[in-house]
Amino acid sequence: MICNNLSVNEKGHLAFAGQDTVELAKEYKTPLYLIDEDRIRYNCRVYVNAFSKYFSNGSYPIYAGKANCFKRIYEIIKEEGMGCDVVSLGEMYTAIKAGFPLEKAFFHSNNKTDDDIDFAIEHKIGHFVVDSKDELLAINEIAAKHCVKQKILLRITPGIDPHTYEAVNTGKVDSKFGSAIQTGQAQEITGVALKLENIVLDGFHCHVGSQVFDSDTFIRSADIMLRFIRDMKEKYGYVAPILNLGGGYGVRYTENDPVIDIDKNISLVSGKINEMCEKYAIDLPKIVMEPGRSIVADAGLTLYTVGSIKRIPEYKNYVSIDGGMTDNPRYALYGSTYTAFVANKMNEEKDFCASIVGRCCESGDIIQENVPLPSTVQRGDTIAVLTTGAYNYSMSSNYNRLPKPPIVALSNGESRVVVKRETLEDIIRNDI
Ligand code: LLP
Repeated sequence: MICNNLSVNEKGHLAFAGQDTVELAKEYKTPLYLIDEDRIRYNCRVYVNAFSKYFSNGSYPIYAGKANCFKRIYEIIKEEGMGCDVVSLGEMYTAIKAGFPLEKAFFHSNNKTDDDIDFAIEHKIGHFVVDSKDELLAINEIAAKHCVKQKILLRITPGIDPHTYEAVNTGKVDSKFGSAIQTGQAQEITGVALKLENIVLDGFHCHVGSQVFDSDTFIRSADIMLRFIRDMKEKYGYVAPILNLGGGYGVRYTENDPVIDIDKNISLVSGKINEMCEKYAIDLPKIVMEPGRSIVADAGLTLYTVGSIKRIPEYKNYVSIDGGMTDNPRYALYGSTYTAFVANKMNEEKDFCASIVGRCCESGDIIQENVPLPSTVQRGDTIAVLTTGAYNYSMSSNYNRLPKPPIVALSNGESRVVVKRETLEDIIRNDI
């Protein structure tokens, strides 16, 4: 199986985090998001341990909440010693309500409104990751009103194409994010930041893309960013204390995806950083990385109930489930691959091929096409879609006024609801 938190039990049912998914579907109803807390902790520890082995003191990994954001996640991340990255007041507020210390939070986004900036400063956000000169000037002004000197990182575009899909490719010069080195704008904004009264420039940030397997991508971006740090030392006499290399390590959605050794990757990145710092005679910066997907993706699994099977002779077969693009829009958006099983028929031969489709009024509402399934698949069976912990719940919607599924957390053989199922009343909550 693609992750070691999956197995088949004596009843021929799919087990996740050691628990029978068919029983969980019965107990909590479907559609249902499951989250394996022990797997999240394991994934956090891979980063935390690698950081303490390979990077300078004061370096730490932060969790990118956009991958999956609800209160319980922040409690786990905090217990595991990670910081967090937030991109909106909604994410920030979730972190605050979970008791997450905001001094370990980095506030991203390419368009922070004045209200966003005001709220973040009032709640003592650790760092802003500043995307543009307009935003930099606005933060300086609002920080002055609060009589604070606000710590920031500048988001720099290193000009790297990491060979991932276009929507998540963010490190190229032609990007809505950051200031590019190639155009001279990165150098210019650094000069501006250094002069502002209420800004403390604490270093630089870059993020080249998501679902990246090529370890060379991170080494190249470290290389470009360290050269930039050297150039800023030469130009302004400024030595950046922090270098944030962003997130992006890929995960396995299917058996065809490569296994990525994150510890080894981080050791390679650290080797590059040490080499460059020595060569350029610059102090080793504190390193921050902000993984999202690789912390939560394989800790998630979604359960559905089959409603109907449609066999269209000489065309295609459809298996309709009780969720769809509302709880997982990734196939509709990116054509993303997933592995799916009939969870109550794990030992049966897969002699049938079908598209698993959702219940929305839209033909593109597909979870996955051409999935091998047992031909006995029928109404009432449980479908499990694996590796749904990242960018599923966080990208879910109420299209067709479908209520969002609950999240049930699994740990040490126990299960409990950490996000409630939306009700019909929730659906009309804001209607007047
Ligand atoms: N830092 C920044 C600045 C980011 O933009 C992102 C992701 C991350 C960190 C975390 O990257 P990760 O480790 O999760 O790859 N909705 C898309 C993914 C969008 C990623 C956006 N930025 C998907 O479902 O594949």
